[in-house]
Amino acid sequence: MTDRDFASLEELNDAMRREFPSAAGVGGVVAGEGSILAPMAFVGEQPGDAEDREGRPFVGPAGRLLDRALVEAEIDRGEAYMTNAVKQFHFTERGKRRIHRKPRTGEIVHQRWWLWREIDLVRPTVIVALGATAGLALAERPVAVTRERGPMTFCNRRGFLTVHPSYLLRIPDSAAKQAAFEAFVDDLKQARAIGQTT
Ligand code: URA
Repeated sequence: MTDRDFASLEELNDAMRREFPSAAGVGGVVAGEGSILAPMAFVGEQPGDAEDREGRPFVGPAGRLLDRALVEAEIDRGEAYMTNAVKQFHFTERGKRRIHRKPRTGEIVHQRWWLWREIDLVRPTVIVALGATAGLALAERPVAVTRERGPMTFCNRRGFLTVHPSYLLRIPDSAAKQAAFEAFVDDLKQARAIGQTT
């Protein structure tokens, strides 16, 4: 960790790449994507296998589902900022497959300082925490998504806690999945409205 200030996202991302090199079971830094002053920032858990390979957040199955929900909620992804609480894919190798490993609390806390420097540069009007890992990083305490889902304040910034899109992917029953998707879209609409209030 450092007490340095960063003039731009590029500077911040370069410093993160130096601070968090890839290693066995840990991918490279996948930087946030979007412009400074994007009105909405979306924070996920960590990049997945597809994100690690492409070097971009939310481009795999969860990202495609998020994209569909954004369209339904009339949120333009091009005007949103996408990032993750933890910037590296953590995995265990099983043969040729890389199996997602949840980041440990220590890893989330260790990267939190960097997440806040990033948010301070982007200055979104609302931050959407997708799932418990993002919630923990932003609220600076463990959050229970089912109980606390809804508007929240993250370090004096307007925020919203909702489910992670990969949770929707795992629901086996198609009617339940559709209902959960619609509830997720409603959350995104609420978050958008919160970001638009002055
Ligand atoms: N899941 C996340 O939390 N972030 C990504 O970028 C992709 C999947």
